[in-house]
Amino acid sequence: MERSRWYKDMVFYQVWCRSFRDGNGDGMGDLWGVLEKLDYIKSLGCDGIWFSPIYPSPGADCGYDISDYRDIAPEFGGMEAFRQVLDGAHARGMKVIMDLVVNHTSDEHEWFQKSRRRIEPYTDYYIWRPAGENGKLPNNWDSNFEGKAWTYDEVRGEYYLHLFAVKQPDLNMDNPKVREEVKDIMRFWLELGVDGFREDVITYISKKEGLPDDHIFPIYKGMAHYNHGPHVHEYLAEFKRDVLDYYDCFTIAEAPLVWPKQALRYIDEKNGQLDMMIQFQCVAADCLFTDYIPTKFSLRKMKRAFSSWQYRLRGKSWNVLYLENHDHPRIVSRYGSEKFQKESAKMLAAMYLFQQGTPFVYQGQEIGMTNWRPDDPKAYRDVQSIYNYEHSKKSPQKRLEMLWRSSRDSARTPVQWDDSENAGFSTGTPWMAVNENYRKINVAQQENDPDSVLNFYRKAIRLRKSLSCVRNGIYREYRHWSGKLYLYSMKDKRQTILVVCSFSDKELPFKAPAGFILADGEKILGNYRNSDEETLNPYECRVYLWK
Ligand code: NOJ
Repeated sequence: MERSRWYKDMVFYQVWCRSFRDGNGDGMGDLWGVLEKLDYIKSLGCDGIWFSPIYPSPGADCGYDISDYRDIAPEFGGMEAFRQVLDGAHARGMKVIMDLVVNHTSDEHEWFQKSRRRIEPYTDYYIWRPAGENGKLPNNWDSNFEGKAWTYDEVRGEYYLHLFAVKQPDLNMDNPKVREEVKDIMRFWLELGVDGFREDVITYISKKEGLPDDHIFPIYKGMAHYNHGPHVHEYLAEFKRDVLDYYDCFTIAEAPLVWPKQALRYIDEKNGQLDMMIQFQCVAADCLFTDYIPTKFSLRKMKRAFSSWQYRLRGKSWNVLYLENHDHPRIVSRYGSEKFQKESAKMLAAMYLFQQGTPFVYQGQEIGMTNWRPDDPKAYRDVQSIYNYEHSKKSPQKRLEMLWRSSRDSARTPVQWDDSENAGFSTGTPWMAVNENYRKINVAQQENDPDSVLNFYRKAIRLRKSLSCVRNGIYREYRHWSGKLYLYSMKDKRQTILVVCSFSDKELPFKAPAGFILADGEKILGNYRNSDEETLNPYECRVYLWK
């Protein structure tokens, strides 16, 4: 039977729970806070929630180091709160997807504790290797977060592989028992009623046999041998065949380095193993490969990324549309302008919300939150930021500036709900500092302003859902050479829209592409009240419709 693929009609909201809303006053965001805000999320026009990990975890990587896959962390309210959130979301017609993190666990997970002691059946649940001569590491691979990818475990007397933090040992997916565990975890959550998974770095789960040295990648050494590894499709097909196919659910793969052609091997609607893919190209227009190698923002690079995914996936698969998540700095500070915070936040919303795919809005994005710039490096909480700060050879000031620009923590400060103490996030002491601009940028103030970024998101999402050409139409980009203007149309049998976005902080002359007669169309969205047709204001956006 043809699947309904309901996710194609939805807009998702990403909740990074510890900074979303604290419902019990302990300083940590929790599911009681989410419960309070379900109507708010729904009011945006979002009909789904993706929860970053909320399972029990020591928190070495803010929850991406899981110590129990079948529970909800007590600090987030435990299972009781989760069931209420799940029921509350479903009662509102919203879907809920969980983060499935199975490339690695926490080193405090029972499996690892048993594996390091060689207790069966856990002995080979992880990737263990003896030290080489003179204690040499098993290979030259780097971890993504903390130096080399191998750490010596005194208990077992061997090295274990961790592609992320030291406290995140990689699972050995080649072990069929581990794959059975993954399937059981999936079943557990699907039986409980969740609607799908976002699968964390899922393209990393199969490592090349023999774990050879990597002589290809200059940084992140090893990636050539574990990204899109030899058995990845086979394992994912097994998860689909044995579990996912039995449920009305959907899956999103996170894929750090992938091109559309390669992506289709995972997400082609005819024979893929997953439904959608989070690629990183659309969040790499101001950096090379990682936010820590910054470059000047290039609109051309960004347009190339968006356009190539629109063109290549069309008719074959479905895009994830996103600009922000918990792993990258805030979009207004990166691709827009803090000086034109309101205008550029709206323009960026219009820029991606009218493309084909399922949009994701990350908490705080809908009010145009910006990067955080604390004076004290000790304010940072993220393992990657702390490591990069401590291991950089730059001056302390330059290192701090590096974090201001590149740290994931820029997007992890508490959501700014109002202008009261702690931005209304918590009545206790927030686990992480609040961005000090909360008196200017907050939800309460924007609720009362019909012209706010928040209300613009609502309007744009409503419009998106009313336009058949966005869901079913054909995307076409114009003036791809422009470094200041992003211009695209979506067209189906019934209607055409033209989306016009200026990335300039100055006025720009504007002429519609050939064939578009503005006078015959209707301007259905914009971020300036008065604008002259032939001149775009700084960061202006317009959406025109022809029927
Ligand atoms: C990707 C997640 O989005 C990120 O937050 C996490 O640190 C790594 N995977 C490791 O799980």
